[in-house]
Amino acid sequence: MLSTLPLAAFEATMPTPSPSSSSSPSPPPLGRTAVRPAWQTLPEPVRHAVAEQLPAPIASVADQGGGFTPGIAAQLRLADGTAVFVKAVPATHPLAEVYRHEGHTAARLPLATPAPRLRWTATTGAWVVLVFDNVDGRHPDLTPGSADISRVVNAVAAMSEALTPCPILDVEPSSTARGDWLHGWDLIAGQVPADLGAWERRHLNDLIKAETLWRAHANGSTLVHGDIRPDNLLVTVDGTVAVVDWARASRGASWQDVADLVPHLIMAGHTPAAAESCLAETPAWQKTGVEVLTSYAVAYAGYWTGMSRQPAPEGVPHLRSYQRHAATAAIAWVRHRADATSPVA
Ligand SMILES: Nc1ncnc2c1ncn2[C@@H]1O[C@H](COP(=O)(O)OP(=O)(O)O)[C@@H](O)[C@H]1O
Ligand SMILES: [Mg+2]
Repeated sequence: MLSTLPLAAFEATMPTPSPSSSSSPSPPPLGRTAVRPAWQTLPEPVRHAVAEQLPAPIASVADQGGGFTPGIAAQLRLADGTAVFVKAVPATHPLAEVYRHEGHTAARLPLATPAPRLRWTATTGAWVVLVFDNVDGRHPDLTPGSADISRVVNAVAAMSEALTPCPILDVEPSSTARGDWLHGWDLIAGQVPADLGAWERRHLNDLIKAETLWRAHANGSTLVHGDIRPDNLLVTVDGTVAVVDWARASRGASWQDVADLVPHLIMAGHTPAAAESCLAETPAWQKTGVEVLTSYAVAYAGYWTGMSRQPAPEGVPHLRSYQRHAATAAIAWVRHRADATSPVA
């Protein structure tokens, strides 16, 4: 376990690096991280198929820049004053199955889920298309002192009530659905990058050992969103939080969605201790073992550290710089937990 990392005395006294100390270029602000084809580039028969599903003609279109996938994401304002949100990706695209999974999940979410309703999904004209109710909202501000923090924490912590027991029978357990990708130190050890930090290099074996424990505690009877981060959250004018993008949902333990907020709070400027204290009152945080949370932090740190060094996927230019910043935040989180729980440095 990382709590027993043999930290040398001098390491324990070293300051935990802050996310801003990273020398890599900053990713663009939330809402401008994706490079997406515009709605107008969707073949006319596909746009026509969407329009046929709508209660009124399309009056205006606003392409959305949040997230990282290179699919179409657009808000369509309709002549009757309502609006819908459309996602679409070619049926041959490697992400097509992910979009189908999202459609399958979104169609089965209980009404009490704080998520926009899926109105229609189909594979049409060789495109996978999803049409949702539009959420008129903005991404939450998670910087220290923001009123959005308690809104987001409360919404994410509370949503497990609507999602337990898991309303979808054929969704994969979190231990495999998430465990298959949420790790990285094992892979890093196979080819240690030249620029790997000295601390990570020194503790690589301990990090490899620590990054798997959480999986044994990941299963449960809740539908887990699995991708809780600010660009998948929208805050409406009355302060309600909507959770979008259910593409990575799995069946498991609800603490995962709550704990996912920690690295994003750190990226937004919190110290790791302050980020954790934002969640301290939630039952999910309180009932999850210290070692499980440490393992989870280690897994995210390994995942982002490894992925950020991979070549950029086609059409996704900002993902790697985002992951570098995320890795810095997650490593700060791990070091905080190691410092806080290590018996003797
Ligand atoms: N129902 C919705 N209403 C309004 N905007 C939305 C809705 N769903 C998503 N968005 C916006 O579009 C962006 C991309 O959508 P998302 O479902 O997260 O796609 P991706 O899989 O590309 O991340 C989000 O970051 C959010 O800003
Ligand atoms: Mg998203």
